[in-house]
Amino acid sequence: MVKRKIVKRKIVKPETIERDVAPKPALPRHIAITMDGNGRWAEKLGKPRVAGHLAGVDAVRDTVETCARLGLEALTLYAFSTENWKRPQAEVSFLMRLLRRFLREEVELMRRQNIRLQGMGRLTALPAAVQRDLAESTAATAAGTGMVLTLGLNYGGRAEIVDACNARWEEARRQGETETVSMTERDLQAHLYAPTLPDPDLLIRTGGEMRISNFLLWQCAYSEIWVTPVLWPDFRGPDLMRAIEDFQGRERRYGGLARAAGKQ
Ligand code: FPP
Repeated sequence: MVKRKIVKRKIVKPETIERDVAPKPALPRHIAITMDGNGRWAEKLGKPRVAGHLAGVDAVRDTVETCARLGLEALTLYAFSTENWKRPQAEVSFLMRLLRRFLREEVELMRRQNIRLQGMGRLTALPAAVQRDLAESTAATAAGTGMVLTLGLNYGGRAEIVDACNARWEEARRQGETETVSMTERDLQAHLYAPTLPDPDLLIRTGGEMRISNFLLWQCAYSEIWVTPVLWPDFRGPDLMRAIEDFQGRERRYGGLARAAGKQ
């Protein structure tokens, strides 16, 4: 009979495994981006400002695709603000045409990527043709169960808060409770343009300016901010990954104590 050598296996306690396998840093659920620097990008090349917006569409396409592939829950892009109407008429018209083209040409790709598209802002003040294209692309992607892509269009954070208050008061009036109308944070949230979106975890701004510029004022209360000097038309996947990596090294405290300090 052959004697089998008994090999003593080292028993690894579950706690040791937990300690040795570093947890994967979490991805942000929702990234919001202020796409700034189109004009400067064009000026640097001696081109008209609108050339920067045109080149900016490539950065939009690339960013949407990267975020969808990463499995983000939501991406919100600030495409046109309530203040952007102050720009020269020709630039505004160009932006509207660009937007329409994007909505029509990218819808198939969005469907294939399982993306659900929606607009956010005072949409009824947009040109009728833009509203129509937006409604069609929104309907065509409505069954998407992957990433939600939200475009801020005629969007302003202050306007959104005012509109939410008015919508709440209108609701109260319809329910006959005007005398006792109340407003909680939950009520206001429920009347935002996109009430079911989680708050952005990460707010990215290209073009180097350290400003919020009226973007998602309510929702960004605890967002981590990352500003890059890269101008929007040059922004690509590696820039996005740098922002995410930086986010993953942050400690979010939401007004509480740091984790280590909390244990003391
Ligand atoms: C700000 O750059 C950018 C805008 C006002 C428009 C953003 C639009 C796009 C990126 C293209 C269209 C969007 C979609 C979703 C298809 P700026 O012109 O203020 O740049 P500057 O600060 O250098 O002047």
